[in-house]
Amino acid sequence: MFLKHLECSACGLQHEWSRLQNLCCSCYKPLLAIVDLAAASRTLTRETLATREESLWRYREVLPLPGDVEPASLGEGGTPLLSGRKFADDIDLWIKDESLNPTQSFKARGMSVAVSMAKYLGATKLAVPSAGNAGGALAAYAARAGLEAHIFMPHDTPRANIIECRELGAHVTLIDGLITDCGAEIARRKEKEGWFDMSTLKEPYRVEGKKTLGYELAEQCEWQLPDVVLYPTGGGTGLIGMWKAFDEMETLGWIGKKRPRMFAVQASGCAPIVRAFEAGEKSAAEFPDAHTIASGLRVPKAIGDFLMLNILRQSKGGAIAVDDEEMVRVAHEVGSKEGLFVCPEGAACFGALKGLQRTRKIASGERAVIFNTGAGIKYLECYRS
Ligand SMILES: Cc1ncc(COP(=O)(O)O)c(C=O)c1O
Ligand SMILES: [Zn+2]
Repeated sequence: MFLKHLECSACGLQHEWSRLQNLCCSCYKPLLAIVDLAAASRTLTRETLATREESLWRYREVLPLPGDVEPASLGEGGTPLLSGRKFADDIDLWIKDESLNPTQSFKARGMSVAVSMAKYLGATKLAVPSAGNAGGALAAYAARAGLEAHIFMPHDTPRANIIECRELGAHVTLIDGLITDCGAEIARRKEKEGWFDMSTLKEPYRVEGKKTLGYELAEQCEWQLPDVVLYPTGGGTGLIGMWKAFDEMETLGWIGKKRPRMFAVQASGCAPIVRAFEAGEKSAAEFPDAHTIASGLRVPKAIGDFLMLNILRQSKGGAIAVDDEEMVRVAHEVGSKEGLFVCPEGAACFGALKGLQRTRKIASGERAVIFNTGAGIKYLECYRS
């Protein structure tokens, strides 16, 4: 394993990786894993990658977990990058279809890595606040690893997610509130109950799993990153993880300096990052009365807000809000044109692409990649009418 240490994303303070921990012990911001890339590159090259298994564990040298420890794995990663030409014929549009992961969402990537590390470092009971998909993924990987999963979800989480968590043997608590209220309940009880908090960016390794989105994207685009990336953003792990992957790959000599313009896509009813981006703020205030059918985007306050805003500005991208009616309408358009039943979060990105075209923030012929982060079939309540 080539993990060197953990580093605070805000104050830079180093922490040892070898004990279970959550936030920076000095400023309470997220910790990120620092990998010895020079050492990793002795065995991990673009050429060796091509011969390896499809799962995200093919990037083993840049992931945490000692080499002789078996990861908690269900075959996550290795999802297809599909052409989206019928949806937007003047854009070179591609869709990274993350609904083909175990538990049908991209949350599998983060949880495979984070559950593996939590178990290795001695955790036995894992807790997470979830909009739905992260809960399902935690439940599956905890079961695989033989650990307890304690999942707190808003009562209006899609039924499929709730049933899935229960059938995977997790302890499920429904909360009359938002994901932030679920997180607060875990924070209140975790010490007494002996739970390890697996909240987005409050432990360092879910982002390591999510960074494989960036590695896969580069490989599937033959090491030329696209011009534009549209990512449905709640807590922002994918955005932060991909950006980290791009930097790591540049250090490895796999890609050049070019970065995609990164766009965070949110719901009009819960758009803290959009508001903060437009106001020129460095962090995002809590979004009041958050509501949207895209449960994964119902995150009124994100601990990684400052990291996301930095990435959007550095990449010369932006932040776009899409309303619920547009998500449902566009999901039908994507379904009937491309044969993909996308989740509302994914649909939001297709709506945002239309916005970029209207405002000429994307030129015809440019290559854009949309992340369909989950499966429409889990959101029957949203699509019923
Ligand atoms: C389908 C889907 N898309 C996007 C998101 C947002 O992901 P992140 O919190 O990494 O920004 C979620 C989170 O729950 C989700 O379930
Ligand atoms: Zn710090």
